[in-house]
This record gives sequence, structure tokens and C-alpha cells, in this order.
Amino acid sequence: MPAEWAASALIDEARYFEMYRRSVEEPESFWTEEAKRLDWIKPFTKAKNTSFYEDDFGIRWFEDGTLNLSANCLDRHLATRGDDIAIIWEPDSPTEPNRKITYRDLHAEVCRFANLLKSKGIKRGERVTIYLPMVPEAAVAMLACARIGAIHSIVFAGFSPDALAGRITDCDSRLVVTTDEGLRGGRRVPLKANVDEALKQCSGVETVIVLKRTGADIPMEEGRDFDWASAVAEQSTDCPPEEMNAEDPLFILYTSGSTGKPKGVLHTTGGYAVWASLTHQYVFDYRPGQIYWCAADVGWVTGHSYVVYGPLANGATTVMFEGVPNYPDPSRFWQIVDKYEVEIFYGAPTALRALMREGDEWVHRTSRKSLRVLGSVGEPINPEAWEWYHKVIGEGRCPIVDTWWQTETGGAMITPLPGATPLKPGSASRPMFGVQPALVDNDGNVIEGAADGCLVITDSWPGQMRTVWGDHERFFQTYFSTFKGTYFTGDGCRRDEDGYYWITGRIDDVINVSGHRMGTAEIESALVAHPKVAEAAVVGMPHEIKGQGIYAFVTCNAEVDPDDALRKELVQWVRQEIGPIATPDVIQFAPGLPKTRSGKIMRRILRKIGENDMSNLGDTSTLADPSVVDNLIANRPQLA
Ligand code: WTA
Repeated sequence: MPAEWAASALIDEARYFEMYRRSVEEPESFWTEEAKRLDWIKPFTKAKNTSFYEDDFGIRWFEDGTLNLSANCLDRHLATRGDDIAIIWEPDSPTEPNRKITYRDLHAEVCRFANLLKSKGIKRGERVTIYLPMVPEAAVAMLACARIGAIHSIVFAGFSPDALAGRITDCDSRLVVTTDEGLRGGRRVPLKANVDEALKQCSGVETVIVLKRTGADIPMEEGRDFDWASAVAEQSTDCPPEEMNAEDPLFILYTSGSTGKPKGVLHTTGGYAVWASLTHQYVFDYRPGQIYWCAADVGWVTGHSYVVYGPLANGATTVMFEGVPNYPDPSRFWQIVDKYEVEIFYGAPTALRALMREGDEWVHRTSRKSLRVLGSVGEPINPEAWEWYHKVIGEGRCPIVDTWWQTETGGAMITPLPGATPLKPGSASRPMFGVQPALVDNDGNVIEGAADGCLVITDSWPGQMRTVWGDHERFFQTYFSTFKGTYFTGDGCRRDEDGYYWITGRIDDVINVSGHRMGTAEIESALVAHPKVAEAAVVGMPHEIKGQGIYAFVTCNAEVDPDDALRKELVQWVRQEIGPIATPDVIQFAPGLPKTRSGKIMRRILRKIGENDMSNLGDTSTLADPSVVDNLIANRPQLA
């Protein structure tokens, strides 16, 4: 940590320890104080009312307070910084004009769109599905929902029509917001066509609002589909914000778990808003006036908390980038940094690894002298990528904040604070205020000191998810029943002698491909839905760029003679069922899968074969047919 950093940081090391102590020992006063960062309509009288135990299970923060998050992100800034830029939008192509939207203009657009939603019959508590790429209108739609108390559910624009349909149906949306086409890396993505396809399965959708992005000629269904621009033109720029209870739902975001369908993670208003604002300020040492850029997509939780809600609640200028890191060339990220004099940059290790491979020359073409803080999120960052980020991108000047968190946690949980935390490459370091991590062994015993274990959180924090949409029992079972009285993260973790946390990755059947979370069960069910497939098992495998790749073992129906053509067909099939992010890297045809005598697939063995670690297969004697394993090993494809 450079010395000048510690001297000027918002929070230095001593203050971190003092604030942390207060946050866990005196949560009422700590959170009552921190909640003042928001404007409340009616102040709350109690900050925290939570229990992780079955008999009185419940998570409530600031429960009798009322507020509106859209008003906190917009209206309250108008008097002091109405003419400041809220969103800088950088389009896919550097030759297309960018957009700079002031707080005043954003406020007007949000009010118009909120009034449009109301005119289409959307009421408080209803769900609106947003299927948009990285355009400012995504933020407009989110904030408009928050303004009228509708619950948004964003579906990442890379998901297939089937995946979209499943999410629309699960939360019962009557209205979908989309574009004619998306644009990424010069390629067009047929979003409206995907919606049309999805809606064949969703009879409940009455309205589709379509933003023009590329101007493609797309069919519009009379009475159902409306052009965004002409529809909002008739709307007033005045829309009073709804008074929401702190525990009223704000959004649903679907995420993958180890079993079953993706679950609708539900976040509520007050706690989430405090958490997004607080973490955005402290984790990035954010100061008013700084240009801040989080390169995540709004389709993921990082985009929710750190492209939209956190920065806008704090009155920041947030950069939104439509494109990809290597288009038109691998210096694009750093060109954008120079173009807007970005001071805080927050990105994913997978992008860094891909850019690192292109060589330093692309980086050296740019200045990057505006950068002060660099963040990392979504997956473990390997020390090599960390060093490159630190030395080459940040020229040794910028602290790296490696932020560990999850869709479920709403915001950063374990992370360094710039200037307060001595850095160790690859470690997410210390807990955020109010976060009480612990390591437990497989029997649930808490392990103290330097150790390896399962990461749990022993008490609630304001940004925690409140339920799984439509399935509260699943919420409890998934997160609170494994280790009684604690929130189970699904991650493995090591704590070192300095009390630093090192996340080692998922210990359940979730894999992390390029920072995207995927349930192996989802990919398996997509594969077995193919008429030629009898059975499938999917595991993660190490992948140089993506972190993890997707390795699928597939058993075909007896009459099928599997060949390369079928392999390609299956890859295509999975892309269509889920989306391109689920593209299998390897498909190994297997006459049989390793099963116990009771018929359970032994995934442990498949994982080892996926990792190409044959020396460590462990005990195979309990298998119904141990020779299956020899066959899998003999036929493992030689990967480059
Ligand atoms: C992983 C993304 C190591 C982890 C915000 C977690 C990380 C899952 C880190 C959540 C990090 C996220 N270091 N691993 N800094 N950040 N992860 O829900 O396995 O898309 O459980 O949320 O990503 O992914 P999600």
C-alpha cells in the first residue's frame, strides 16, 4: 500500500478496525448512523431485527422506515448537482457518438418511463421483466420501476428465449422491456426476436416496450408492442415517487444454484440501498466528482449495485459501456479510461486474463494516469493476473480491491479498503462492516485461526437477500439449513495467520465460467432434453481465460453412434436452451458414467477427470462398475 494512500484515504487501517468493531458490537447505533446516507420519508425506529434460526427465522432491516430509492438516486441530487453527469454512455463502436446524461435529464426520463408503466396498468408490487443490453435506458427502466414500487427482474441479454421465458413465467410479469437489437463487439443480437420467441410460451405478457437501438426492421405486434420513444413522448416528466416500506421488494434477479431451476433472489429497498451506497463509497474510496466505471453488465448483480444503485445513490458519474474489452482492439478498456479520465475502474478477472494474453503493448498505447483504484469481482483472481493489473494497468500506483460477494449478498462482503488494508495478491482480505465470516468443517464445527473450510456468515447484514421469489422454504433450506444458525455461501475458503480470507471457489455443484455463475444441473437438464441423449454429467475444468470451463460427459441412447457432428449439434443445442455463456468446452461421449451401487453418479471422480488429475481419483471400489472409469480416462480428449 503506497504511503500517500494511507494518509489521504477515507478510512485508514485504525479507523477500519474501530468501525468494524462498532458495526458488529453495536449494530443498532452503527447502522442507524450509516442509514443517514439516505433520505428517509419516515425514519425507522429499529435498525436490525434478524435471526438465522428456524424457530424465529426472519431478516428485517430498518423495518418501520419508508423511502424511495429512485428519489434517493435522483430527486435529492437535483438541487445540488442537477447539471452533473449521472451516466456517461460509451457505445459499442468508438466512432458512434457517446451520451452524457445529467441527473436532471435522467430524472425526467425516469419519470416519463414510470408514467408510461403506470399507463400500461403496472402497479406497486408487480413484476416488470427487463431484457436490455448496456444502454442508459436499462437504468431508466430500473429506476422507473423503483419509483412506482414495481419489482424489476432483469434478464441478462445473453440468455436464450427459453431461459427468458422461464424467468418471465416464474415471476409472472405482464410487461417486458427490450430493444430491437443489441450491439456487442460489432455483432447484432436479436433481442426483440428472442422476446417474440419467448412469448410463445408466456401468455401472461400484455405489453412489450421496444427501444430502438440499431433501427432494425422488426415485427411489432399491434396492441402489444410499443415503441419506447413514441410511447414516452406523451408522458409527463412529473411522477411523484411512491412511499415504500424499507422491506418492500426492490428487485428479483435470477441466479443459479446447485440444484433445480435458477432461483429468483429477492432484494428489498432500505437495507439494499444502504448496503449498495455504503460499499460503493468505502470500497472504492469514492469522492464526489470522481468518474467511476464498473464494467459489469446490468444483467448481473454487479451491474445492479455498482453500475446503477450504489453510484447513483452517491451522486457519482457512472460510466456504462455497451461493448466488449477487445473491440475494436484490446486497448479499448484503457482508451475509455483515458477518454473520460476514469479514476475508479471495476472489472472481472476473466477480462483481465484475456487482455493480458494480448500483450502489454496494447496497454502502453494508453496513459491511464487518471486511475486511482482498481477493483476485481466475480471469481478468484489468480496472483499472475493480479500482478499484471497492479503493475501494468495501474503502474503500481493503484490499490486493487478484490471484492468477494454474491447475488445473494447485494454488495461487497469481503474486500480490501483502499488505504486501509495492506494488500495480498489473490486475497479478498478482510470483512466489510457488519459482515461476520466464519469457517466451518463438513460437520458444521467452527474452525478458528489459520484454516481451510466452508465459508459461512454468522449474522445478517443490510444487503442480504430476503427470500427466493415464490419459495420461502427453498430460501431457508438452501442457505440456512446446512450449518444451523448461519448463512452458507457455497464457497470454500482459507483464512491465513493474519486473518485474511482467500476464497478458493465453489464447493457445491455451481461453476463459475468467466465470472458467470452456472448450475451444472441446468446444463445437464439442457443436454438430456436432446432426443439422442440418455444421460449427462457436467463438471468444471480449469480454463486459462474463463477461470472454469464446462466439461460435459454425455451418454447417448443405445441406437446412437456418437460422432463429431453430434458433438457440434449438442454444443449448439445447449447454446439455444440456455445461452452462449453455457457453451460446453468439452463434450466427452461416455458409454457409462461412474455410479455407486445405489445409482448415484460419483461427481468427485468426474471432476478429477475434468481437471486431468488422474492420480487423485480416490476410492473407486464402491462403484457398481469400476471399469467405467478406465474407459473415461482412456477416452478423455487431449485438450490443447
Ligand atoms: C465467486 C458476483 C473469489 C464466488 C458478485 C461467489 C468470487 C460467486 C469473488 C458469486 C472474488 C465472486 N473472489 N470468488 N472476489 N467474487 N466470487 O452471484 O464463488 O454472480 O460465490 O455474484 O462468485 O457469483 P454471483
